[in-house]
Order: sequence, then structure tokens, then C-alpha cells
Amino acid sequence: MKKTVVAPTNIAFVKYWGKHPTFERYHVPNKSSASFTVEGLFTKTTIEVKEGNREVEFILNGKEITPEMKEAKYVYAFLDKVEERYPFIKNYDYKVVSENNFPTAAGFASSASGFAAFARCLVEVLPEFEEIRTNDRAISILARLGSGSATRSIPRDGGVVIWRRGIAPDEANIDVESAINSSYAETLYKPEEVGEIRIIYVKVEQKEKKVKSRAGMKTSVQTCPLYWEWIKHDETKLLPSILDALKNKNWELFFKLVMEASNGLHAICHYTYPPIFYLNDTSKEIISTIHEINNNAGKEICSYTFDAGPNAVIFTTEEHVDEVAGSVASIVGEESIFITKVGKGPKVDNEHLF
Ligand code: DP6
Repeated sequence: MKKTVVAPTNIAFVKYWGKHPTFERYHVPNKSSASFTVEGLFTKTTIEVKEGNREVEFILNGKEITPEMKEAKYVYAFLDKVEERYPFIKNYDYKVVSENNFPTAAGFASSASGFAAFARCLVEVLPEFEEIRTNDRAISILARLGSGSATRSIPRDGGVVIWRRGIAPDEANIDVESAINSSYAETLYKPEEVGEIRIIYVKVEQKEKKVKSRAGMKTSVQTCPLYWEWIKHDETKLLPSILDALKNKNWELFFKLVMEASNGLHAICHYTYPPIFYLNDTSKEIISTIHEINNNAGKEICSYTFDAGPNAVIFTTEEHVDEVAGSVASIVGEESIFITKVGKGPKVDNEHLF
């Protein structure tokens, strides 16, 4: 039995940063996050299974990943957690061939599309998963066991996706299964409902990030004095306002809040001990340029957002994309930008052109 899945990456405009202290193992987040599903940046994964005892052969971007390599650790940890809930997965051997069409671990969130493709493909290939095969909520929970941000790459309608945090961070008196199932992703708006949005990926650096998000967010939860204030602010104020701005297509307000959300994450990182710095001088130059463009326009016509790395993602509308992309290209070069829009979720087999 063999299946192939193509899963898109996603870019969060309300960020996920930190796991529920009691259910950290299952990547139950401390706050909800929201993202655009990204067209054209994806992971393609093929899984072939035969009866066996969970032996895994894993080929990532053409390279064999042996069990002692760090990439393998993430995959085995994922399968261990999946096996806890679905014990039948241990009765098969797996050959997993996975390829990203963008640089791994450079801040382009490859773990999001990677684990989304892995989880969906697993559900497609194993007969015992039939009952959850059309249940994106259940699959998003499964993908989350691999990597939090993968949760948001699962809904097949794609578009604007919300990953609901589920139980509150101070709620610990609950069984594990209910805690795991309380947090999932779903589409809020389909891609065509935000058809005018353009997403510009800006490659600032191709190196692997120094502090991985998993380790970074753990340190923030443990040491940042403002962490819980920030969680409360984003959950109760920022998220509702940003979703409202989207609903009303109030792009000016949406772009402003997107920048606030990104700045909030990086402020938390700076106030973590020891501090975590993801942005470099080029990232900061991009920030200044975006504010300059907005100042000249007299309103917000574009915004930046940064994850756990120096690469920028810029949002604007179709109307302004040439101007904005041109300004950013003058900093990093034409070859370092990729312009795309909001797209659909994962596809199975040959439904997708790749
Ligand atoms: C900054 O999903 O990579 O990109 O759940 O530990 O695998 P794990 O973390 P990961 O964290 C992503 C953090 C972020 C913000 C976001 O995508 O929401």
C-alpha cells in the first residue's frame, strides 16, 4: 500500500509560542493562533507500508535519515505518540519519502508542511484510519503530535485557519484524552474570500536557525516575566480584533495588527532568559522599509511577520504587490523573494500538480 500527499505550509499572523505546562508532550498550545495557508510552498510525502513492526526508512530531500540523526528523533517521537492513541500503527513497516520545495529549518516553517503531509498520508495509507479519513479536526490533532504549526496545514479548504487552543493553560484537572482533543484547527475563510491578499516570502538567510522554536518557546514559558500577560492579551484582545478586521476586509487594521502580533512574539523572545534573537540587521531593514511604505501611503498597505528566524513574510494586497515587492527586492535581491497567495489545504495523490 502506498499513498502520496502534498501539504502546504502556513504562515501564522497570530503566533503560537508555548505549550500547556501539563500537556506539553501533546503540543497543546497556551493560546490560539491563526494563519494563511500558503500556495506553492509545500512538502510532498509518499508513504509505503507493509506488515511489520514499525521499522521506518526515512528519506528527506533525497537524503537517508538514520535513527541517530536529529530529524529522525522528531519522527520517532511523533510515531510514539500516534501509537499511544492508535496502537495498530505498530503492525506495519514504513518507507517515508519526503521532499520540501523550499529550504528546511530556515524559518520557512518546514515542520508545518512536513508533519501535515506525514499525518495526512498516514491516515490515507493505513486502512484502520478509514474512520477519521474525512475528519480534518481529528487529522489536525494527529499532525499536532508531530509539530504544533502542522495543525494549521491540515484543513483541506485551507484559506484562513484558526488553531483553537482548547483547554485554558491553568486547567490541569482534566484527563489526557480530553486535553489532547480540545485543541484543533479549522478553516475560517476559504482562499477565495481573501483572494486579494498577496504573500511575499523574503529569504534573508538560508542557514539553520540557532535556537529552534521548540526549545525557544519552552524557555519563554519558563523565564519570560511577561509571557502570561502576552498570552492573555493575544487570546482576548488581539485574536478577536484581527479576525474581525479580516471579516470586514479592513486591510489597514489587519496589516497593523499583524505587525503588532509579530512584534509581540519577538518582544517575548527578547525578554526570555537568556534572550532569543531571531531577527538580524536585514530583517530590521525590512521592518523599517515596510513602515516607510505605509507612512508614504498614509495608511497600512502592507505588513511584515517573522517566525523563529530572520526571514520575513510580507502581506499586502494585489493592488500594492508590485510596489511592495520591488522595495523589498531592492534590499535582498529579486532572487530572494517569492510572491504567492492564500491557497488550499493538502491534496492526495495526483489531484495536485507538482
Ligand atoms: C514561531 O510548530 O515549529 O513559527 O510545536 O515544538 O514543533 P513545535 O513548534 P513549531 O513552532 C512554530 C512557532 C512559530 C509561530 C507559529 O507558526 O505560530
